[in-house]
Amino acid sequence: MTLKILTLLYLAVTLSTQQELWGPKTKIIQHNIASPNVAIETVRFIKLKFAYTSSMYISFNDGKTKMQCFLRCMDLAECVAISYSVVKNRCKIHATVFRASPKTSRINVEYVAYEMKNPCTGNPNLCEHGSFCSPIRPTKSYECVNCLPPYFGKHCNETLGAPLPAVTEDIIYGRNSSCRMLDHFFGLPSSSHLPYFIHPWRDARKIKVLCKKDEMMISDLKSWSTSPIRFLKSEDLKDGLDISQPNYLAHTSFIKTLNSLMHFDKFYIGCTRDDSAWFDFSNKLARNSGLALVNYWTNDTNSRPKSSDMNRNSGGTPGYDFTLLDEKYSSPDVDIENRPFQDFFVGANGDKMTFTENEKECFGYTSSWLSFRIAGL
Ligand SMILES: *[C@@H]1O[C@H](CO)[C@@H](O)[C@H](O)[C@H]1NC(C)=O
Ligand SMILES: *[C@@H]1O[C@H](CO)[C@@H](O)[C@H](O)[C@H]1NC(C)=O
Ligand SMILES: *[C@@H]1O[C@H](CO)[C@@H](O)[C@H](O)[C@H]1NC(C)=O
Repeated sequence: MTLKILTLLYLAVTLSTQQELWGPKTKIIQHNIASPNVAIETVRFIKLKFAYTSSMYISFNDGKTKMQCFLRCMDLAECVAISYSVVKNRCKIHATVFRASPKTSRINVEYVAYEMKNPCTGNPNLCEHGSFCSPIRPTKSYECVNCLPPYFGKHCNETLGAPLPAVTEDIIYGRNSSCRMLDHFFGLPSSSHLPYFIHPWRDARKIKVLCKKDEMMISDLKSWSTSPIRFLKSEDLKDGLDISQPNYLAHTSFIKTLNSLMHFDKFYIGCTRDDSAWFDFSNKLARNSGLALVNYWTNDTNSRPKSSDMNRNSGGTPGYDFTLLDEKYSSPDVDIENRPFQDFFVGANGDKMTFTENEKECFGYTSSWLSFRIAGL
């Protein structure tokens, strides 16, 4: 007879390295001489701070209790995490932890999420410099995924050059790695975009950006600024970059590199005109449509976002006709590198939102636009 007993830990445990780092752990006990041996299996699950769920799962069942969900996870050899919807009694079994699959994982308050105790849960900095610790249960091991240059190695902490100067825990643990993390850990004002230093590599390297709560400015043009436009490419994302002053426009390669550090869920793109009309577009967060814009702007797809993939907001233009020329955002003629600013909106009425070196237009206004921006969170 196998009896399974679950020990649920509601707080991350701090472990001495001697302790068993993986479950299940089986103990054979005998109640008394006459009774048969009883095997007791224990697995520890750790409740996650965020209510995550993911569209990447190995099993999905409705009508289960949370306890049945834990048991199912123990039975499936690859399971390392569960997400459970209290509303639908829905049990999802995951072979990859949520942090290691940021593209498919979403915070969703309908769910509670648990991760099986493993080497990653005991040591929040086992995988360094922005890499994610991903446990692999069948081999009782883990790997550090998303390890970015100049680092390499099992723990993403080896470099060929001299090691960078030591930094504080805030930086190592990623509390200062993005506007989203700064807002989460320190609380940022919602009033306007303010300058902050962020450490996206989780080491001494830093960049100066504008944050408004969890939103980071990625492109910023102001018609009154006399500074020349800086076009940002992948190679510009390096220690010391300062994008806290207009005017700058991010190319696709810049957003792609930035996204490998920040994992954006959402982008806002918009412009204002001097008749006080403003236009603002953002991708929806739903599983099927949400990533259309993110994937297009990171060059992970050539499919342009559909009208239904985006939310639209505007003010000061009652009854404005937003019909797209061919039902999709952007244009097939746009160079991959220019996707985030050239011909993003091309309307059936001939109006456009486009901001390039030579052509700037905010919905029909070519000389009297006021600002253009992209923000990400
Ligand atoms: C890398 O991290 C591992 C695990 O934390 C540690 O044992 C090792 O000493 C580190 N290596 C360097 C070069 O810091
Ligand atoms: C992290 O960010 C907070 C909030 O901006 C700031 O007070 C703190 O000094 C930063 N820490 C480091 C080590 O940069
Ligand atoms: C876009 O992706 C394609 C295919 O992966 C690649 O060949 C091309 O260099 C990329 N272009 C940019 C600007 O990232």
